[in-house]
Amino acid sequence: MHFSPSQRRRALQDFAKYTLYFGLGSAAVLTSRKSHAQAPLTPNCGTQTPAQFEGPFFTPGSPERSKLIGAQEKAHKIQLSGEVVDSACRPVPGALLDFWQCDENGNYDNRSDKLRGHQFANQKGGFVLQSLMPGEYPGRTRHLHVKVQRRNGPVLTTQLYFPNHARNKSDFLFDPRLLLEPKGTDFFFRFVLAA
Ligand SMILES: [Fe+2]
Repeated sequence: MHFSPSQRRRALQDFAKYTLYFGLGSAAVLTSRKSHAQAPLTPNCGTQTPAQFEGPFFTPGSPERSKLIGAQEKAHKIQLSGEVVDSACRPVPGALLDFWQCDENGNYDNRSDKLRGHQFANQKGGFVLQSLMPGEYPGRTRHLHVKVQRRNGPVLTTQLYFPNHARNKSDFLFDPRLLLEPKGTDFFFRFVLAA
């Protein structure tokens, strides 16, 4: 997978934009914490899932499906289960989850629906994704791309990473808050949206 000079320029511009977004977001969170210091304690499901760079390979209009691979798939299969909650631990039923990823060789297919699909969380905010283990491409460790959105809410665009993977350390976008949790042979992730 190679980025053209224009794609690389766009990626760097977008990354700078997200860096600015994170800076403003952190300030807002700190202000919010201070002003609510005396508020009664509420259940805490952890910090909101951080946003990340969308990348150049998102295509709108993916098919609705939770299984991105066929029965004959030869690559290493993965299953990701998880839930979408808000920061007060309330499930977000019906949340939209739109996944896209590269294949086992690190290639994205922008001409078809291959390895793309959206689904809606169930009544408990739960979801399951079946796919294949994404490969690596220059500069990037293994990752999944995803957009998560509560009904009529803002879109969270982010990426998920695989634990215990050597290239995580050298990936400029890697964020340990976005690591999948091993769950037997599968993986688990909890998306935390703003309450
Ligand atoms: Fe990617």
